[in-house]
Amino acid sequence: MISLMKLRVCIVGAGPSGFYAAGQLLAAGFEVDVLDALVTPFGLVRAGVAPDHPKIKTVTRAFDKIAKQDGFRFFGGVMLGRDVQPAELVERYHAVLYAIGTSTDNRLGIPGEELPGSVAATELVAWYNGHPDHHANRYDLDVDRAVVIGNGNVAIDVARMLVLAPEELAVTDTADHAIEALNRSTLQEVQILGRRGPAHAAFTNPELLELGELSRADVVVDPADLDGVEVGEDAHPTTRRNVELLTGYAQRAPAGKPRQITLRFLWSPVAILGDGRVEALRVVRNAIVDGRPVPTGRFQEIPCGMVVRSIGYRGRPIGDIPFEQRRGIIANDGGRVTGRAREYVTGWVKRGPSGVIGTNKKDSQDTTGKVVEDAEAGRLANPQAVDAAGAAAFLRSRVADVVPWHGWERIDAHEVAAGEPHGRPRVKIVRHEHFAGVLAPG
Ligand SMILES: Cc1cc2nc3c(=O)[nH]c(=O)nc-3n(C[C@H](O)[C@H](O)[C@H](O)COP(=O)(O)OP(=O)(O)OC[C@H]3O[C@@H](n4cnc5c(N)ncnc54)[C@H](O)[C@@H]3O)c2cc1C
Ligand SMILES: NC(=O)c1ccc[n+]([C@@H]2O[C@H](COP(=O)([O-])OP(=O)(O)OC[C@H]3O[C@@H](n4cnc5c(N)ncnc54)[C@H](OP(=O)(O)O)[C@@H]3O)[C@@H](O)[C@H]2O)c1
Repeated sequence: MISLMKLRVCIVGAGPSGFYAAGQLLAAGFEVDVLDALVTPFGLVRAGVAPDHPKIKTVTRAFDKIAKQDGFRFFGGVMLGRDVQPAELVERYHAVLYAIGTSTDNRLGIPGEELPGSVAATELVAWYNGHPDHHANRYDLDVDRAVVIGNGNVAIDVARMLVLAPEELAVTDTADHAIEALNRSTLQEVQILGRRGPAHAAFTNPELLELGELSRADVVVDPADLDGVEVGEDAHPTTRRNVELLTGYAQRAPAGKPRQITLRFLWSPVAILGDGRVEALRVVRNAIVDGRPVPTGRFQEIPCGMVVRSIGYRGRPIGDIPFEQRRGIIANDGGRVTGRAREYVTGWVKRGPSGVIGTNKKDSQDTTGKVVEDAEAGRLANPQAVDAAGAAAFLRSRVADVVPWHGWERIDAHEVAAGEPHGRPRVKIVRHEHFAGVLAPG
């Protein structure tokens, strides 16, 4: 391998895909600077993964090890598109790798979507996880029924979080503002609505199984929804097991728990109704034709005070980075940004918002393989590239109080110490302005 010691890559985004890419590039001999808009790293591991799943979050220990390696630097609080522009990074580094995730939501595109009480899962999740851009979100949980639209794991996370018991929430790192609001909630029922059938749901087995084990909520499935559902020999094992689990739920009598999660299939939302706020969801019954949901013309109104759309995330275009509008991702050819030299992409903003944390490792490997290939072919040559000190000076000229890795370690220690007396993994700082106090010397 040629010597890559002097090649410097700027990775934008300190989520899983950014960290995996950093580890791979360090191993290949590059130096990496990792920028994140937030002063806290780890992307959706901190701000997406459900707070009652703390084991999943321990993946950050592997990222900590990467951050400790020579050649790694973190610049927290630097937002691409606001503080620095893509061309400015491309000018100063040998390569720039975008790992910025997909931070916004897909829209249903139905009447009433703007009514108060109609909310995006992306924002609700960010709120209960203490993302500092979302601490001021307000949700009226003083309602009887919420409907979560979508049959993915995020829909399950949201439904579960809405029915957790106070003692279950109390031992998590759920943001304090969310714990308070969730504990005051009067919700009786959360309906999870799939536009297709039980065999088409995108749930994974452990997540669906967990719904049946909640302390405060019964899980309810109408046996009629399982009528005629056939799982062929060639079906994926996950699908087969999902159908088994749902069949079990359909046969189960409710245990009389105070709340209920109802899974309903073959219904699509057509309008959100209400006078000044959400009062009902109008849905249409679907039939499946060639695997696709087709409306039958049979309608129903579901009275509810909250509608959560959980129908996938999408990326935001930044500056002049080529963007594929339809899919909401950066346009790319296997990780090389389309039509651009020395610019790369990985993770959700490369392939779309699907896959678990580990999926990003292989995805980043594919992209960093291209970076190495281009380096070896001399395609990363950049006479204007600056050294480590020059890059840091540039970033600091844009964000004076940029937070280095040891700054994050201070925040981490503070949050963990605040959680310890209460048996919580951490108490998150949820306001941008409150990080400074922890970071101040002394
Ligand atoms: C609600 C939810 C729950 C999930 N739960 C699980 C789970 O339990 N288990 C599991 O394995 N997977 C789970 N996943 C999937 C997992 O979180 C993703 O696969 C993974 O986080 C994607 O990594 P990423 O690096 O591409 O994006 P992200 O994790 O979104 O990271 C992107 C990073 O880029 C930063 N960024 C964004 N824009 C800019 C900008 N303009 N400038 C600078 N920085 C920027 C962000 O602050 C963030 O740190 C979950 C996903 C969601 C949405
Ligand atoms: N615990 C975990 O491991 C965990 C937790 C959370 C998330 N994740 C992962 O993160 C990724 C993203 O999860 P996700 O739940 O956001 O996405 P997802 O798995 O892609 O599910 C999206 C759901 O939305 C439905 N949908 C899309 N458009 C719709 C519309 N217009 N009307 C009605 N329904 C619509 C889809 O139905 P169709 O199938 O009909 O299109 C699908 O059921 C997944 O890979 C997931 O596994 C993992």
